[in-house]
Amino acid sequence: MKVGVARETAPGERRVALVPETLGRIQKAGAEVIVEQDAGLGSYFPDSAYVAAGATIVSTDELYRQADLVARVQKPSPAEAARLRGGQAVVGFMQPLLDPQLAAELGARGVTVISLDAIPRTLSRAQTMDALSSQANVGGYKAVIMAAERYGRYFPMLTTAAGTAKPANVLVLGIGVAGLQAIATARRLGAIVKAYDVRRETKEQAQSVGATFIELKSVADATGEGGYARALTPEEQKAQQDELNGHIAAQDVVITTAQVPGRRPPLLVTAAAVAAMKPGSVIVDMAASELGGNCELSQPDQIVETPNGVTIIAPTNLPATMPGSASLFYSRNLAALLLTFIRDGQLTIDPHDEVHAATVIAHGGQVVQTATKKLLEPAAGSTTGGSAA
Ligand code: NAI
Repeated sequence: MKVGVARETAPGERRVALVPETLGRIQKAGAEVIVEQDAGLGSYFPDSAYVAAGATIVSTDELYRQADLVARVQKPSPAEAARLRGGQAVVGFMQPLLDPQLAAELGARGVTVISLDAIPRTLSRAQTMDALSSQANVGGYKAVIMAAERYGRYFPMLTTAAGTAKPANVLVLGIGVAGLQAIATARRLGAIVKAYDVRRETKEQAQSVGATFIELKSVADATGEGGYARALTPEEQKAQQDELNGHIAAQDVVITTAQVPGRRPPLLVTAAAVAAMKPGSVIVDMAASELGGNCELSQPDQIVETPNGVTIIAPTNLPATMPGSASLFYSRNLAALLLTFIRDGQLTIDPHDEVHAATVIAHGGQVVQTATKKLLEPAAGSTTGGSAA
């Protein structure tokens, strides 16, 4: 079996699916690795490093011709999808819940579609495969670094001959994987950190990495299924925004990470809250996308400067801005997943394996994963792509 490492082509994407360090594990399982020319260049892994790790460098045409499994980070572009053929498998962040049609089209052509973002995250065996967490971790770190770079003052308290600098006040909204890393990073830089989440179990987690947890009186615990938050009702959302406004105005830096699966991200920082912030304050909205973000004024991948001197940054692919570390962790996650599939050098799917049942989206000519199948049913089709929260 040949595992092919594709070169990513999405704008701004610098990661690579497999780095030289992890090839040994895949080769030991009986697979050969071929790498599209310059696939690792954006993340500082030259072709020579892959050759030293036992891989063969091939052209784009050869990669799609020879590979039994194409390994990627992002889902393929339409042109790349068109190159995939029946009998071949593709693995990456295929986003079947946002783009079920892609899985359906590839599946109908006999392509096996495996998605890393469908890993059952609460299954302890799958933790080494949890690329959503490893990439969110990178993002949470980088969001704070970006905020510190933009913030025109010190993060730590600093005593100098010229007097003392006050520490920055940082608020983290959403205490999932990214939020916890953001708290820890801001603390390491010496900031005073507060944090808030609608899931009450996050209180202890936030405290354990050095934040003060903010309790809102207006909103009860909103823990949903699978460890995620549920969407708030419009009334709860309004009450939450009103109560958060007072906290936001006192902050120098706000990092937002709040997401609800399959929904528009909740609006936590309103335009009125931004207007009440001090000049020089910085907001980094990690939830921003074309669906909207946690801040009302966020523009995906743009820097907005408000009339009252607040900077709002809304990066949509932070892991790609740290491609070395992000690729290394993604690669380890992917290798852990692939090792469950490679048996005697062949891609072998076991429908009774919980990881396979969750991550194999299409196989044998059709979509097989339950959640994606539901989305493709005609009645459910109209809810695809995230409804308003
Ligand atoms: P996420 O990216 O879906 O959301 C980030 C955070 O936003 C969540 O903590 C969520 O509660 C919060 N949020 C949503 N709506 C909000 C609102 N209106 N106001 C404030 N906060 C709001 O979450 P992520 O980081 O992908 O994972 C969340 C959870 O998934 C984890 O905390 C855990 O429970 C579970 N998980 C479990 C793992 C395991 O057991 N190994 C691994 C990874 C995640």
